[in-house]
Amino acid sequence: MRWWHIGDVLALENDLFTDDRWSAGTYWSELGQLDTRHYLVAVDGVAVRGYAGLCDYPDEAFVQTIAVARDEQGHGLGTRLLQALLDEAARRNQRRVVLEVRADNARAIALYERFGFRPSGVRRGYYQPSGADALVMMRS
Ligand SMILES: CC(C)(COP(=O)(O)OP(=O)(O)OC[C@H]1O[C@@H](n2cnc3c(N)ncnc32)[C@H](O)[C@@H]1OP(=O)(O)O)[C@@H](O)C(=O)NCCC(=O)NCCS
Repeated sequence: MRWWHIGDVLALENDLFTDDRWSAGTYWSELGQLDTRHYLVAVDGVAVRGYAGLCDYPDEAFVQTIAVARDEQGHGLGTRLLQALLDEAARRNQRRVVLEVRADNARAIALYERFGFRPSGVRRGYYQPSGADALVMMRS
């Protein structure tokens, strides 16, 4: 992902995420931290169809975000993006990958479980203003 993708990414954020969507400022900040961040886009021509980002912390990697355009979902793109993030975590010698997901996001949870992520905790009322819980999942 480069700065010129941010406009497309924000359009997808607005459509796919409700309470917890990210701002342009957040993406500019993430892309500015090249040493610890790894952000990918899947493009069709020039249009962004999916994106995902990883943060490389000292003792674990964190899946910052992953999303696929509605009309592209269910065709394996989310799987490919997540696999690419896990490959990057392995390249960075991370033994543990962590993420947070809305507890009511069954589709994303199913994707993570297929990759061996397991629940490791719940953050009650994490997402505001909805008050939805965040499920913390970990893959060792
Ligand atoms: C979660 C998300 C990223 C998954 O992306 P996706 O591209 O739909 O994921 P995949 O296609 O790889 O896998 C999803 C399903 O499609 C199936 N699938 C994979 N390849 C397929 C193919 N070629 N043909 C048909 N189905 C396929 C998978 O088996 C999987 O089945 P499931 O519905 O039983 O889980 C996507 O739904 C999304 O963007 N959601 C909104 C944003 C979001 O919630 N992000 C997660 C925040 S934590």
